[in-house]
Amino acid sequence: MKMKMIFVTSNSGKVEEAKKYFFPLGVQVVQKKIEYPEIQANTLEEVAEFGINWLKDRIESPFFLDDSGLFIDALKGFPGVYSAYVYKTLGNDGILKLLKGVENRKAHFKSVVAYYDGELHIFTGKTRGKILHEKRGTGGFGFDPIFQPKGFNKTFAEMTTEEKNRISHRGKAFKVFSEWLKENLI
Ligand code: IMP
Repeated sequence: MKMKMIFVTSNSGKVEEAKKYFFPLGVQVVQKKIEYPEIQANTLEEVAEFGINWLKDRIESPFFLDDSGLFIDALKGFPGVYSAYVYKTLGNDGILKLLKGVENRKAHFKSVVAYYDGELHIFTGKTRGKILHEKRGTGGFGFDPIFQPKGFNKTFAEMTTEEKNRISHRGKAFKVFSEWLKENLI
């Protein structure tokens, strides 16, 4: 498979992950930085679909975007769809403060990758884990330093991009996406 794909995002961490994931598959990922409206909705899927519908008349297809979020059990799924805003305002320290004294640290990340080629295709991935009591690691981006995936002793921020891709929500969504591409584009 030799192809080029546009990834609409202003998040360079996501681009790094996509490039590392798709390069060995012969897919060149090209970042396009266009701010698109992120509506307030109950699900990441709705946010992603609105973004696609807004972008599809403005840029050439095919292209894809990713909408993701961190869902913390003890906070009833917060920040979830509000993750970007909460990261900008409270940050990792704010989340650690909110969870001070809270025993149940369970959380998961979810990623919704939406691809548009004249039609909308949605691919999702989820990774369970827990929120630590302190930040660890310098890699990755966003909430990576406070999230430790289940079955590992390292946070996402202590992993290489390849390691994170193998188990992350986005890596899982990319896997389904790449399998779909292989089946549909040959
Ligand atoms: P959005 O998908 O761009 O709306 O991002 C949601 C928020 O979750 C942002 O603040 C990101 O930094 C954060 N986020 C999304 N994916 C990840 C991840 O893989 N690790 C850590 N934080 C993430």
